[in-house]
Amino acid sequence: MSETPEAMLRLLNVESSYGPIKAIRGVSLKVRQGEIATVLGSNGAGKSTILKTISGILDPRKGSIEFKGQNITAKDPAFVVQQGLSHVPEGREVFPLLSVHDNLLMGAYTRKDRDGVARDMAQVYTYFPILKERTAQDAGLLSGGQQQMLAISRALMASPDLILLDEPSLGLSPKLTKEIFEIVVRINRERGTTILLVEQNANMALNAADYGYVLENGRIVMEDTCDRLREKEDIKEFYLGMKDDGVRGERRWKKKKTWR
Ligand SMILES: Nc1ncnc2c1ncn2[C@@H]1O[C@H](COP(=O)(O)OP(=O)(O)OP(=O)(O)O)[C@@H](O)[C@H]1O
Ligand SMILES: [Mg+2]
Repeated sequence: MSETPEAMLRLLNVESSYGPIKAIRGVSLKVRQGEIATVLGSNGAGKSTILKTISGILDPRKGSIEFKGQNITAKDPAFVVQQGLSHVPEGREVFPLLSVHDNLLMGAYTRKDRDGVARDMAQVYTYFPILKERTAQDAGLLSGGQQQMLAISRALMASPDLILLDEPSLGLSPKLTKEIFEIVVRINRERGTTILLVEQNANMALNAADYGYVLENGRIVMEDTCDRLREKEDIKEFYLGMKDDGVRGERRWKKKKTWR
């Protein structure tokens, strides 16, 4: 891995465990400023663990994490958010008894620039107009897809430089997944927000992202530009469910595979 200075986020040999269970084993990766990077991997590969370790929910056993040139290894999650790094966790985790509006304000709780907060609120409502319609409604009454929109919007309300996005496609229809991914790309292009996306939906992730890593059993086993990853036979066959004839099937993650 080349050490280029433009990396906004850099993980070096990061190991994290849950008690005796080693979930990630020496993960090194970087996310460059302005790009969408993705980590692909099957159930239990360690994707969420990588994000939790970056955002400070989980302290690593080994290794280091640097964000915008600052060491954020094992720092408090609130500190990490203040540095400009927001995490949209797996399964959304909105505040169900608060309104959509109040959920959004919770995302901005560390900010003092009230004008900026109002501007960002207006902007997230343009990304997801349904949230504006539901602004006074309890977040717990939103559909799964709407809750995902709210979770992404709440992260945006912190005005982050980088967003960690944990499986935005989880439990959503293909149509809604496509819509969410389109907005994620728009957020990246229009606001310049750097994004690290972890996904099982390799097809969507490889189309949206610039650079990708493949994670298996807690280790990065492959990395490349998404254009090149899409062309690799292993990726086509096991992550995109495509055979050599280019026909895409529904098959995803069916087979265990050791990567070369
Ligand atoms: N709170 C926990 N306590 C114990 N083990 C855990 C805990 N969370 C995750 N693990 C284990 O750590 C490993 C990595 O889990 P992780 O949640 O990071 O996987 P993932 O790639 O996000 O999977 P998924 O696609 O299912 O979300 C798995 O073996 C999992 O069982
Ligand atoms: Mg996960």
